[in-house]
Amino acid sequence: STHPRIAVLPGDGIGPEVMACALEVLHAVGDFTVDEHLIGAAAIDKTGTPLPDASLDGCRAADATLLGAVGTGAVPADPDSPRPEQGVLELRRALGVYANLRPVRAIPGLEDAGPLKADRVRGVDLVVVRELTGGLYFGRRGRTAHDAFDTCAYTRDEIERIARIAFTLAEAKGPAARVTSVDKANVLATSQLWRDVVQGLADREYPHVPLDHLLVDTAAMRLATEPSAFDIILTENMFGDILSDETAVIPGSIGLLASASLPAPIDAGEGVRGALFEPIHGSAPDIAGRGGLASPLGMILSVALMLRYGLGRTGEADAVEHAVDHALREGLRTADLGGTATSHDAKRAVLAAL
Ligand code: NAD
Ligand code: IPM
Ligand code: MN
Repeated sequence: STHPRIAVLPGDGIGPEVMACALEVLHAVGDFTVDEHLIGAAAIDKTGTPLPDASLDGCRAADATLLGAVGTGAVPADPDSPRPEQGVLELRRALGVYANLRPVRAIPGLEDAGPLKADRVRGVDLVVVRELTGGLYFGRRGRTAHDAFDTCAYTRDEIERIARIAFTLAEAKGPAARVTSVDKANVLATSQLWRDVVQGLADREYPHVPLDHLLVDTAAMRLATEPSAFDIILTENMFGDILSDETAVIPGSIGLLASASLPAPIDAGEGVRGALFEPIHGSAPDIAGRGGLASPLGMILSVALMLRYGLGRTGEADAVEHAVDHALREGLRTADLGGTATSHDAKRAVLAAL
């Protein structure tokens, strides 16, 4: 039999460190054929471009893609020189992965790890559903020496397909699970369309799913004051980027958060081919190469999301997630959680729990 083919893009900074750990976990749960490719600053150094054709071809040919992180943290002096982050954006666009799922849970035993009071964190179990291939990230832009502009545009179809994903996730979670659609409809035209399309779809096809609309500024506050009020947060590209980093206060570190980026609706049976899986953190230049200060858990949990949403291997996905939970419950604490465990120790603890 042929094994699933996984394209692996370690990238920059802590990307290669966390990827090495995650691949060990992947190989511990099954047989996979892994092909490694360049992206980001590593790719610019070797080829002059942040996403070489060979890397994109490799991802297109694979059943799923794993990405570490890109970036050097530096803002280039020359605005026209290639930037590592363009590699990630071009990859998302080329793969058509419009649906970015960012699950966030309070991890039992870890309620004290973050800055929020433990009783606010306990029981939180939400998913940020971020539209990933539209909005400001992909609109027309321009820059001269004197001015610059970015444009935010959305079509009805782009909004409806991502909203459908959010309603499906709410249905799967249970009868009372709600969708909170986050926008800035008091100001932005795209948000006014967003609100209309989401409400229209709800009225027609998901009248049984509780739906609220929240302005993004209020949503940012509610996430910190009452995170347990959320089940599914549905939002556009830039708001989703910002709010999902804020959710790091729930488990206590951004190093724990994973994501799945899908080019098609969730297929609970077979999984969706051609999807992309990456932690939500970046290349963390401040801790890269410093003897294992990086938590590999977000990358390892991204492998679990790949097993579940990309390959339809629910059993193995559950096993990896339970192993991470178990290791944390047994006291695993990397530096970001105030402990002394290295990346290597964290990976060993997860492997031992598997
Ligand atoms: P970052 O997420 O890299 O780091 C923010 C903070 O979180 C830092 O203090 C870092 O040390 C810490 N951190 C991040 N991941 C961690 C982990 N796994 N374990 C422990 N601590 C962790 O964000 P930044 O510093 O704003 O960005 C650095 C670079 O990464 C930039 O070039 C940015 O564009 C890029 N970036 C890339 C991606 C991606 O590739 N998907 C995502 C976000 C940022
Ligand atoms: C993320 C990152 C990316 C984004 C950057 C690196 C382009 O912050 O995946 O959250 O803004 O989408
Ligand atoms: Mn981000």
